[in-house]
Amino acid sequence: MPDVIAYGGDWNPEQWPEEIWEQDVALMREAGVNRVSLGIFSWSLLEPVEGVFDFGRLDRAMDLLAANGIRANLATPTASPPPWFGDAYPEALPVDADGRRLHHGSRQGFCPSSPIYREKALRIAEQVAVRYREHPALALWHVHNEYGCHNARCYCDTSAAAFRAWLRSRYATLDELNDAWGTAFWSQHYSDWAQILPPRATPSFPNPGQLLDFRRFSSDALVELYLAERDLLRQLAPGVPATTNLMAGAHWDMDCWAFAAELDVVSTDHYLIGARAEPHIDLAFAADYARSLNGGRPWLLMEHSTSAVNWQQPRNLAKAPGELRRNSLAHLARGADGIMFFQWRQSRAGAEKWHSAMLPHAGPDTKVFREVKALGAELDGLAEVAGSRVEAEVALLVDHSSVWAQDHPAQPSSELDPVEEAKRWHAALWRAGVTCDIAHPEGDLSAYRLVLVPQLYLVSDAGAANLEAFVRRGGVVLVGPYSGVVDEHDRVRLGGYPGAWRELLGVSVEEFLPLAAPIRLASGATGRAWSEAARVTTAKVLDTYASGEPAWTRNEFGDGAAHYLTTLLDDAALAEVVATVCGESGVAPAATAEPGVEVVRRAHEDGRSFLFAINHTAADATVTTRDGRTVTVAAGDVAVLRG
Ligand code: GAL
Ligand code: ZN
Repeated sequence: MPDVIAYGGDWNPEQWPEEIWEQDVALMREAGVNRVSLGIFSWSLLEPVEGVFDFGRLDRAMDLLAANGIRANLATPTASPPPWFGDAYPEALPVDADGRRLHHGSRQGFCPSSPIYREKALRIAEQVAVRYREHPALALWHVHNEYGCHNARCYCDTSAAAFRAWLRSRYATLDELNDAWGTAFWSQHYSDWAQILPPRATPSFPNPGQLLDFRRFSSDALVELYLAERDLLRQLAPGVPATTNLMAGAHWDMDCWAFAAELDVVSTDHYLIGARAEPHIDLAFAADYARSLNGGRPWLLMEHSTSAVNWQQPRNLAKAPGELRRNSLAHLARGADGIMFFQWRQSRAGAEKWHSAMLPHAGPDTKVFREVKALGAELDGLAEVAGSRVEAEVALLVDHSSVWAQDHPAQPSSELDPVEEAKRWHAALWRAGVTCDIAHPEGDLSAYRLVLVPQLYLVSDAGAANLEAFVRRGGVVLVGPYSGVVDEHDRVRLGGYPGAWRELLGVSVEEFLPLAAPIRLASGATGRAWSEAARVTTAKVLDTYASGEPAWTRNEFGDGAAHYLTTLLDDAALAEVVATVCGESGVAPAATAEPGVEVVRRAHEDGRSFLFAINHTAADATVTTRDGRTVTVAAGDVAVLRG
């Protein structure tokens, strides 16, 4: 990667008269913008009538960018088919689980399995590719937009047929499928493939295997759509990289790992959820996830917000002064080589006119625009960071299949939320100044000293063996409750939970005991929501319930050790356990800092390194580096220490 940090946002010039565009690019230059995403929602103007194209406006926008030295993530505008599409092909509109066909008038109004949609999408993508493949402003293809954000699952007849075809490629025989789904239960045995439906509304709980496979199929259908566009772009414009913006850590409908494997560079979007107590820790999770999806290499933050979002929250909070900078630099610290926003100029009309932008309704003489300009200058000064890698010795395992399987309505407790638990464990590391990667259970763990498994209800045989091998070779793991319980088809692993890791953990559980109220452990810690009737086989007990049964255990296994928790520990106790396993595995923080100060290191192969210290608190704080330097980071400030 060249020494430049991409900076900018979605530019939607079609929403404005062309006189405004000159002002746009002049202000972009003033703000240090060097990259915009263009054309994402312009299908209905590029092809106002089916088969009739009008590229005049986009030509002029691209030329204007080129003349100003600004480069484009040029979109294929396929995320929002025009009204004519729904009118002409109502069968290609999405259908929900209740059989309701949705109408046009919003965005992503199409069935992901519709061959008609695919044909029309590829046609407009081809037009864009052929027209702009040599354009000097073109930097990257921005394929579609947030696949599956609104139409992740479609239950129409076309999707039903595609689901059956997907199942036939997964299961050699119908017997195999019946066995995987446990269809002997509730008289669901299928005697013909044609009987299989998407999990449409039913009188009671749907079959878990069917539900899980439908989630997998639906995610695969979106990846396939991406591949169809990507392959066409590759063929027409060899050498131009392509991406699509994921929603890593926020939306769990699309399997990010499957998508990421197909992207030339991983890009993702992240928005702060105001209701979270410390939304910047959620940001860190998303950024760590994006980097991990890109194999640890730098990635691109395609969208975040300069201030408020405009969603269905009770109140959409504006960012406080300085928050935009802290958020942006936190993404940079965690490996982003590009910081972009939705959107450049705040819309005057349309569904997102109350969403903040780089250039607010009030114009350039505003807090937001001043911060945008200052950030542009600061990123320019940090160009040397580009291409460096984030240091992480810990991996935290998450898997979409497991999240999907656990989403089935009939579970021992509705209080377990694997995503929130993963984020809570991640937050414990964040507070300890320890940076972690997010890893797939079957991914390569050899670079890590410590692996955390907050809640991995479902694990495949390969994933189970992978963790075992990691410990055997000397790694340390910490496994949370309700992990390793079912196989890849959501069938219970028999003989005592957690079936996948009984031997690894040296523990066997005979019953789950969800808790009505928090309980105290011998150590004084509290456990919440969940407990288990466990007994140790080879493990040592480190903490217990009042009954004497184990709450925290440690088992030596091969050259390593495996810790297990049978309850959801309160935050303080979890922090202590995490500190214990960090100590045991020799994992050190990036720097020592006061609470609320985020510390992360990026380093180049040649040794140049950058310690980011981000003070999220309202008081000055001190940070001590590994080599003993102490610096003060003012309240709300960010320091980047070169080493
Ligand atoms: C993203 C989307 C953008 C915009 C933004 C703000 O999900 O990609 O187009 O809608 O959110 O809400
Ligand atoms: Zn469909």
